[in-house]
Amino acid sequence: MRILVTGGAGYVGAVSVDALVAAGHEVVVLDDLSTGHRAAVPEGVRLETMSYGDQGALGELLKAAGIEAILHCAARSLVGESIREPSRYYRANVVGGVALLEAARAAGVGRIVFSSTAAVYGVPDTTPIEESAALRPINTYGETKRTFEAAMAAYGTAYGLRSVSLRYFNVAGATDRVGEVHEPETHLIPNLLLAADGRGEPVTLFGADYPTPDGTCVRDYIHVVDLADAHLRALEATAAGDERTAQPLVCNLGSGGGFSVLEALAAAESVVGRPIPHMPGPRRAGDPPVLVASAARAESVLGWRPQRSTLEEMIGSAWEWRRRHSDGYST
Ligand code: UFG
Repeated sequence: MRILVTGGAGYVGAVSVDALVAAGHEVVVLDDLSTGHRAAVPEGVRLETMSYGDQGALGELLKAAGIEAILHCAARSLVGESIREPSRYYRANVVGGVALLEAARAAGVGRIVFSSTAAVYGVPDTTPIEESAALRPINTYGETKRTFEAAMAAYGTAYGLRSVSLRYFNVAGATDRVGEVHEPETHLIPNLLLAADGRGEPVTLFGADYPTPDGTCVRDYIHVVDLADAHLRALEATAAGDERTAQPLVCNLGSGGGFSVLEALAAAESVVGRPIPHMPGPRRAGDPPVLVASAARAESVLGWRPQRSTLEEMIGSAWEWRRRHSDGYST
């Protein structure tokens, strides 16, 4: 299949590109490199440096490259920034997203897999979270992702677009080639590893008084390689005539289990072999106490089950990558 991967120079996108290429697909990467890294695009894969919101240019590219399906990973994805600067998030994730849908429609591309997020649920009533749970995002990032899911569904009804929304829980880990580098870094595991090698500040642990076994937040961590495998399966499910996408398909990508912030700290200390500087801090606004997926649908519909679910595997691979790329993608 000829697949366009938007955001293919980013963390999840680049690992997915490798998985698609390994499975024999032909891949074109579209990335404006605003947060992505040129070096994350594997050799031999074409990179188009442009925005998916440029409807005219994207339409030309889709036609000229004979694209059959789109994996839409590109987005703005910082929760805090989304609250401070909503226009950036609505412009990129919603307005840009609709430009992409229009370009796809004009070019006759009727298959799309979308990087959605657990943030569409907000603070869930029950755990583990099923896909049928109420969508009540508590930040602009989650709201824009929810809106784009709805836009894809409307394009399904109106024009027959086949779509899969993959709601990621907490992605972690690295491959030999691709690791997680964000500027600024807000995520727990990269911050623990930055602090471990003396490059970051001591890690602030946000909140110790949550209603959880050890008082810190619990999250469902997924290895980025497992996540990439789910993308491949989801793309296959968008084939014409496949009953699984006769209606828009939505799947959580999580493990069904969770780890607390203190458990992540302990696992990271065990991986690096020394204490990691940290200090207690107040709760971070907008953090639900527990976010754990029901992973049943991804297993029953896509035949997907995470294979690398220990924190040691996830943190260990991320640490290995950092040791080999001490300055991120510049080394
Ligand atoms: N945390 C700390 N210190 C840090 C960073 C994080 O204690 O320096 C805590 C957070 O408070 C949270 C947990 O570690 O309890 C995980 O935080 P991350 O920032 O790593 O991840 P989130 O769970 O906040 O974010 C994830 C996805 C987002 C998505 C969000 C939905 O990465 O894309 O879930 O709530 F929007």
